Amino acid sequence: MNVRFRVSSPGQVRTDAIVFFLPEEEPFRSAQIGHIVQIFPAVEAALRSGEASGKQNSIVVAYSPERTGTRKVIVVGIGKNANITAETFRRAASTAVRRLNNGVSSCAFVLPDDSHSPVAGSDIAFAVVEGAVLGSYKFTQYKTTDVSSGIKEFVVVSSSRSAAIAKAVEHAASVCEGVYVARDLANMPGNDLYPETLAAHAKQAGKKAGFRVQVLDKRKIEQLGMGGLLAVNQGSVRPPVFIIMEWRGGNAKEPPIVLVGKGITFDTGGISIKPAERMGEMKMDMHGAATVIGTLYAVAKLKLPINVVGLVPSTENMPSGSAYRPGDVIRFMNGKTAEIDNTDAEGRLILADALTYAERYNPRAVIDIATLTGACVIALGHITTGLMGTDRDLIARIIAAAERTSEYVCELPLHDEYLEQIKSDIADVKNTGGRPAGAITAALFLKHFIGNYPWAHLDIAGTGMAPKEGAYTPKGATGVGVRLFVDMLRNW
Ligand code: BES
Ligand code: MN
Ligand code: ZN
Repeated sequence: MNVRFRVSSPGQVRTDAIVFFLPEEEPFRSAQIGHIVQIFPAVEAALRSGEASGKQNSIVVAYSPERTGTRKVIVVGIGKNANITAETFRRAASTAVRRLNNGVSSCAFVLPDDSHSPVAGSDIAFAVVEGAVLGSYKFTQYKTTDVSSGIKEFVVVSSSRSAAIAKAVEHAASVCEGVYVARDLANMPGNDLYPETLAAHAKQAGKKAGFRVQVLDKRKIEQLGMGGLLAVNQGSVRPPVFIIMEWRGGNAKEPPIVLVGKGITFDTGGISIKPAERMGEMKMDMHGAATVIGTLYAVAKLKLPINVVGLVPSTENMPSGSAYRPGDVIRFMNGKTAEIDNTDAEGRLILADALTYAERYNPRAVIDIATLTGACVIALGHITTGLMGTDRDLIARIIAAAERTSEYVCELPLHDEYLEQIKSDIADVKNTGGRPAGAITAALFLKHFIGNYPWAHLDIAGTGMAPKEGAYTPKGATGVGVRLFVDMLRNW
């Protein structure tokens, strides 16, 4: 998607479609309608019809044969001033782009006058780009007929020159590219996306955006003693990989922030096999990995002045004669042992070794992100990501980023009392804790493997995969976490 900023009066714009935002409150509503009609007299009847209420996400589409060359005029409501946030503009822009039909290849957004707005002009511009680009995403790689929406270019139009707005447009476009990277990877099917191809995609992303990618193969993984990753891999004919991504935008001596993403490219459950119904969705069990790759992509594109490392342990979880079994005891990179109660609780096993590996960076903080538990989907649905961790400051940073991006998170407690559920008779810990508080016991399992660093864990089992289209997320992989992480890192 091509995204650019232009200083111009709306009448000067020559895109196929043009979008205006309409406040609900008077006198702002009437003033905006008057302004639009002045440029596009032909849409006056439509705008005076009463449909142009300005209520949030109300929409009027009208056609103008006028001199400007712009044919389609879209007026989308943003509601009452007191309720307007950045999210209002993400949703409004997405509502508008979803009304563009095939003939439209370019679309302009006219930024509202922000002098009475509770949201700063540059934040509005950022949100408009997010809503437009993210709302028009389509996963088309596997369609042999042309199913593309036809939209190629978004132009953000402002009547006044502003370096802050120009920068916001450019930055938002890069962040959205990172979200696209994550969505594309997470949507790809398991026959094409498996550990080695995931690593190849990470390398390609690194080359394009400018970050370093190193891939450890099975031999190296064995040398490191990553017994969790190797146990889960045992049933698969495809070798595991451990992907290391590095962006060094900060001071050379400054320790990095490490992001760890679960990279199960397909989760059958293994010997504790899952039911057939909807098992195909488990091609997205590498969404955490996709988020980390998409984040590194955006961070490098933005050249953020901070050091960031991405770690992705990756394997399939398959049943076979060589697969690991319930009852097995495995030994991890940090020397600890775990009794396997259920081979479907595999994510925590591969993350355990990655959390140990992270220690060698002496990191400022480590955050892992994973489609980890069905229990988290039951607790928070597909709307809110589960957040757990050991460090108040780190958790506060994540919550602040969640509020700014509307990638919602909710913290769940890690009380020691829950540890009882994952005690093993014969090993240091057991890999399942029963049905109650399943998201929490999974996180407490991970806590056994963290090093001496602030740690947080995001469970995106619900938010990574959308069962239906959202305001600016498609059905399928959402790319959740990329905007959250980039925002957190920008504000570190
Ligand atoms: N990948 C799944 C979790 C999941 C479930 C992600 C639904 C997305 C949607 C994970 O590996 C898993 O199977 N977890 C088990 C753990 C249980 C056996 C303790 C679960 O949640 O059922
Ligand atoms: Mn599983
Ligand atoms: Zn899984």
